[in-house]
Amino acid sequence: MSAGKSFWEMDEMRLIVGSMVILGGATALLVVMPYVLLENVPPPAGLKPYTEIQLVGRQSYISNGCVYCHSQQPRDAKLAPDAARGWGRASVAGDYAYDTPHLLGTMRTGPDLLNIGVRQPSKDWHLGHLYQPRAYTPGSTMPSYPYMFETRRGQAAPGETVVNLPPALTKPGEVVVAKPETLALVEYLLALDRSYPALTPLPTGPAKAAP
Ligand code: HEC
Repeated sequence: MSAGKSFWEMDEMRLIVGSMVILGGATALLVVMPYVLLENVPPPAGLKPYTEIQLVGRQSYISNGCVYCHSQQPRDAKLAPDAARGWGRASVAGDYAYDTPHLLGTMRTGPDLLNIGVRQPSKDWHLGHLYQPRAYTPGSTMPSYPYMFETRRGQAAPGETVVNLPPALTKPGEVVVAKPETLALVEYLLALDRSYPALTPLPTGPAKAAP
């Protein structure tokens, strides 16, 4: 600080106070305000909490990096033609009431998955697609996940789920079974359904008499 100058003439004070004001403003706008606005958003009537097995699958979705290629946030028609792509209506805050941490994602190398359970309700399809995406979507750039499955010579053990694969993917005398974690992942995918109305309808009272 140089002598003889007032508080506001000191360059370092202006710098420090100025940065604090900008940082404080940005924190209020980007952290505090969204927190206050979204803290108490109730889950919509149509949204069910995840079951235990679906939560195991959700963990597998995270650990296998699905979120790096798939978003879970269909956008408004003004921003992107997501509804026309069949990805569902624009999502609202309440849709994520049971999602901790949220899996909004930033990349869309693959389609948005917030409504994949509606679009693709077949468990067989999901298992086969995870085993070999290119057998279902030619030219797909999604990785295959062979380690989510096990191969059995002859027959599967009792209680195991055999994957119904296209004949070209299996060797004669072998069956492919899904690991329990893979079945949980598919349960999670099938539970991704935000097709209920975004807004809970207001209670309908008796119609007002015309004045
Ligand atoms: C490297 C990027 C990438 C990763 C990682 C990835 N995917 Fe995909 N995914 C894609 C692409 C591209 C498609 C579109 C082609 C296709 O159907 O295979 C796709 C398609 C899908 C579909 C079908 C979507 C539809 O609308 O038909 C599902 C379901 C899916 N992925 C689930 C997963 C799951 C679960 C994981 C994690 C285990 C995962 N993906 C990881 C790129 C990826």
